[in-house]
This record gives sequence, structure tokens and C-alpha cells, in this order.
Amino acid sequence: MKKLAITGGGPLDGEVRASGAKNATLPILCAALLSDQPLDISNVPHLEDVTTTNRLLGQLGADITIDEKYGVHVHAQNLTSHEAPYELVKTMRASILVLGPLLARHGAARVALPGGCAIGARPVDIHIAGLRKMGATIDVEAGFIDAKAGRLQGTRIVMETVTVTGTENLMMAATLAQGETVLENAAREPEVVDLADCLRAMGAQIEGDGTTTIRIQGVDALHAAKHRVVPDRIETGTFLVAGVLTQGRVKVRDTRPSLLDAVLGKLETAGAEVSTGDDWIEVNMHGQRPRAVSVHTAPHPAFPTDMQAQFCALNAVADGVGTVTENVFENRFMHVPELQRMGADISLEGNTAIVRGQPRLKSAPVMATDLRASASLVIAALAADGETVVDRIYHIDRGYECIEEKLAQLGAKIRRLNA
Ligand code: EPZ
Repeated sequence: MKKLAITGGGPLDGEVRASGAKNATLPILCAALLSDQPLDISNVPHLEDVTTTNRLLGQLGADITIDEKYGVHVHAQNLTSHEAPYELVKTMRASILVLGPLLARHGAARVALPGGCAIGARPVDIHIAGLRKMGATIDVEAGFIDAKAGRLQGTRIVMETVTVTGTENLMMAATLAQGETVLENAAREPEVVDLADCLRAMGAQIEGDGTTTIRIQGVDALHAAKHRVVPDRIETGTFLVAGVLTQGRVKVRDTRPSLLDAVLGKLETAGAEVSTGDDWIEVNMHGQRPRAVSVHTAPHPAFPTDMQAQFCALNAVADGVGTVTENVFENRFMHVPELQRMGADISLEGNTAIVRGQPRLKSAPVMATDLRASASLVIAALAADGETVVDRIYHIDRGYECIEEKLAQLGAKIRRLNA
């Protein structure tokens, strides 16, 4: 089991570049299934989940080539299968994103029902209800979603919960449907907008992405396109929090400040001097200890659930008491017991963590449980005395490109143990 060993030290000081967004790359790769012409994608992060998605697309019959800059060229000219097998889906829930494109292009899809994961049950009932409303026949049995459809029919769909991949699946399916589809209560995340930008480059007719109502006029076919993936706002935020909790200075380049307004506002409340340019953000604590902040997660543009664990780590060493309320997932405090092992004073009351800041944490062996929880343990270790070993870091490799190299660029003492 791979581990990361981090030796706590002084303030971070340096610059890193943000990679392309994992949660934009995954749906955009699946969008290539909608066309028999090539889709060239650049600024793709080199992540386990991207490799898994490429493998899945290959199994469906798409030709995948990766260039020297890790750009991905997908050509789904002749699909030879419409099945997403369980052994792939169980490692990556986002495989559900082939459902809409396969149904729209191929008229059939057999996708293993993604199980739950550490942070919650993660149902896909809204994906299925929307596709049924577009005319698909969908049976869910023996752990598989079996879907069939003639040409999908445009319709009005009100999603009962804001769902990011649900919005993405239905938006992709609607691009080839007959007539207009209106998605109400749609997710507004920047990754949804980036997917819509890519689909428009392919010839789709979409408007309203980034708002709660998205309108899609179906077309008969999509064509070849090139797309550069939006920067990863969660990776950006993770490095900024690392700079703040170590009382240092971190500049993130190749990013976009407008992607994470809510997070930047909270970092300013914590006492950081935040400066921004078109494609960079810098936080500077000038050696001061951060003040505790309170956050409530909710769909974009509110504070993102994917930054919740990182703010638990920040509050663990901040001055004062901060509360962290998780409103999106039902079990997203798996990092709390691990942070407590490092001396953090956190108590859980329902979906709220009450965090009483300590000047320093103590190193301890800890275990990663999900992607963002593991990132919070790594950055917490930067503010802990001694060497912390984080186990099960395959979770990290799914979502953070070269995290130890990037943190080392900021002055962190971090190494990978292949123990
Ligand atoms: C996406 O997951 C992201 N993953 C998650 O990032 C992110 O945490 C989440 O959105 C929320 O922002 C990708 O984009 C690949 P949801 P998704 O559907 O789409 C309920 C990371 O760390 N729901 O928006 O699966 C669901 O249970 C990952 O990068 C239904 O009830 O999340 C949850 O409570 C973790 N029925 C809420 O909606 C459905 O059919 C939001 O989930 C779908 C969702």
C-alpha cells in the first residue's frame, strides 16, 4: 500500500500550477462517445481516474491516443460495446457518465450500478428518472442499469436534488434528442459549464449552463472539436489552504479566481491577504496564524463540499473555534477521526464539525478514506510536529496530479513510501 511521509515544518513559500479539472475531464471524455468524429482534449490532468475513463472508452470501442503533453484524442467512430463493466465502475463512480452518451448515440447502454462510496450512498435515481422521461426504457436489476431507447425525445425535467453528474448526463443525452430539453434545478458548477463549452464546440445547441435552467436543442449529429479543460478549482483551493494553515505564501498559476469566489472569501476571513490576476491567485499570511472560520457546504456558487475537509484541517490549527457544516453528502467527515489522531480538537454534532484550533498538531500514522479527506490529512501534516505517514494514498492519486512534487515545490518535506 503506497504511503506519503510528510514532515511538518515552517511556512510554505512558492508557486505551483493548477492542473486541468478532474471533474470536467471525466464528463468531457465521455462526451466523445456522442460523435463519430474525433475530440481532441488538452490540459488533461494525469490522474488515475482519467486512466480508468480512457480504459472504459477503449472497451467501448473508442480509439484513444495520448500525446506527449498528455493531451487525449478520442475517436469513437465505431462503438463495439455498450457495456460499462462492474470491475471498472466499482473503482470510479463517474463511469455513470457514459450512460447518457451511449443511449443518445447508440440507443443502448448497460452500466453497472455504481455502489456507494466512503462519503455516501451516491444514488443515481435522478439520472435514471430523467432519461426515462426522455423516452428510454431502463431496468435496474442484478447490479446493472439496462437502458434502451430509440431517438430520445426532448422534454422538461425538474431534478429534485441539485446533482452535478446528473445534470451532465442529461445535458449530454439531450444534445442528440429530438426537440428541446429543459433541465430545471440544474447544477451550476464550473465543470458543468466547461462540459457545455466542449459540447457547443462539437456543434451542440446549449444555453443557460451555469444557471439553474439549461436549454438544449437536439441536433442530428455532433462533429469534431478541440477543447482545453478548465483549471481545477479544488486542487487550487487545496494548495491555497496549505499556504494559509502553514502561515506562508502560496501562488497558484494557470488557474481562474472566478472559479472559487466562496473559498477565497473564507480565506480572507481567516486573515489571508488574497491577491489575484487573470490566471493566478496568491495567498499570503505574513507569518500570522489563521483565524478560525465557519463554512456551510452547498451547490455552486456556494462553498464547495470538495473543500470541506481542507477547511477542517485549517480550523484545526487556527485561532478560535470554527464550525464546518456538510449539507451535500451524508457521511463526509471520515477525515475527522484521523485529524483527531493528530491532536485536533473536533467534535461532531450531526452534520456539523466544531473545531477548536490548536497552535500545532502532532504527527501520527493516519489513513486516507476518500479523495478530499486524504488531501486534508496531507496538508494538516504540514502543520504537525514530526513525520506523519498517510496510508492508502491511492485515493489521492485519483484526484491530485503529482501532489508530492507540487507540495515540494512549495517547500514541503514530503516523500512517497512504496512500503
Ligand atoms: C460530483 O459528484 C463530483 N464528482 C464530486 O466530486 C462532488 O463532491 C459532487 O459532484 C458535489 O459537488 C464528479 O463530478 C465526478 P451529486 P456527483 O450528484 O455528481 C444526491 C471529488 O472529490 N443525488 O452532485 O456524484 C447525492 O446523494 C468528488 O472530486 C441523488 O440523490 O454528486 C448527493 O447527496 C467527490 N440522486 C447530492 O445529490 C442522484 O441521482 C449531490 O450529489 C444524484 C445525486
